[in-house]
Amino acid sequence: LSIGASSLALQFCGVPFANPLVLASGVLGVSSSSLGFVATHGAGAVTTKSCSLLPRPGHPTPVVAIVEGPVGERGERRPIGLLNAVGLSNPGAVAMAAEIRAYRERFQVPVIASVFGAHPGEFAEVTAILAEAAPDLFEVNVSCPNVSAEFGEPFAADPVATAAITRRVKDASRGIPVAVKISIHCPSLAVMAKSCADAGADAITAINTVGPGLHIDVHHERPVLSNVTGGLSGPAVLPLAVRAVWEIRKAVSLPILGTGGVADADGALQLILAGASAIGVGTAFWLRGENVLIEIAEGLDRHLAETGRSSISELVGAAHA
Ligand SMILES: Cc1cc2nc3c(=O)[nH]c(=O)nc-3n(C[C@H](O)[C@H](O)[C@H](O)COP(=O)(O)O)c2cc1C
Repeated sequence: LSIGASSLALQFCGVPFANPLVLASGVLGVSSSSLGFVATHGAGAVTTKSCSLLPRPGHPTPVVAIVEGPVGERGERRPIGLLNAVGLSNPGAVAMAAEIRAYRERFQVPVIASVFGAHPGEFAEVTAILAEAAPDLFEVNVSCPNVSAEFGEPFAADPVATAAITRRVKDASRGIPVAVKISIHCPSLAVMAKSCADAGADAITAINTVGPGLHIDVHHERPVLSNVTGGLSGPAVLPLAVRAVWEIRKAVSLPILGTGGVADADGALQLILAGASAIGVGTAFWLRGENVLIEIAEGLDRHLAETGRSSISELVGAAHA
């Protein structure tokens, strides 16, 4: 097994990862035990569900719909993505800090705390509470598309608002590095990335889910999700994530946590070649199961051996040359 092999090891914002693969935020629940499960199944780091100051119930079920497409000559229907509108359900900052502490007591794999708020002050308050549990990194979720009825346009549509939040989180983070998670839905990814960098971000995560999209069940003749619309993730969005990482890499020198559509080593390699040094994986757990990170890591190792590279870091951004 290749997990922990030195050819895949890296430092992300100074935090040692045994490999570049990171559990993306929100995909597998909120508990320390579900994070721990992924930590023992090949993750280089795990990200918590996004956390707000107070508990949030989220949207009523169904909150997730698997999107299928006709594939091959006979048009067999296979999953190509996921539509979700979970609505940022989470236990609130005090309970999340306890989950992070419980995780840290049992697992060594670095943990990234994802923070969310209705306004810059709430982002800072959540960060201050979670900082007491000493996560290895913060990730600032300014880009959730599924709560616009409550909060309006995501902050990630606006580089000035995103910069203001970044500054507040940095001030509250007690020196723990901060990644800002952005979306492709902004006027310019280059402007957004520069604005995060100027505001003191230590890294950029790209991308959040795309859309929103809408999935209608043709038998019930109704939308599947209770929220009607939801954010699209999974293999269908990979080219959007690769393009986003490519543009961010051209604009800034911050490390990038490339996320969106990765379900095998080829997808991870595309994001790395575009400029990502770490890779978020979410929907692939739903579509391919619990061993998906181990399989991707083995594929990355094989690729390094086949191409005569000694370290994955040699490939970061290599497609720009
Ligand atoms: C069910 C589900 C819940 C999610 N919850 C969050 C969340 O709480 N915070 C966040 O920043 N992103 C959230 N995301 C977005 C993922 O972290 C990721 O950015 C996106 O799904 C693209 O990656 P993927 O194609 O590998 O899933 C969620 C995605 C899914 C599918």
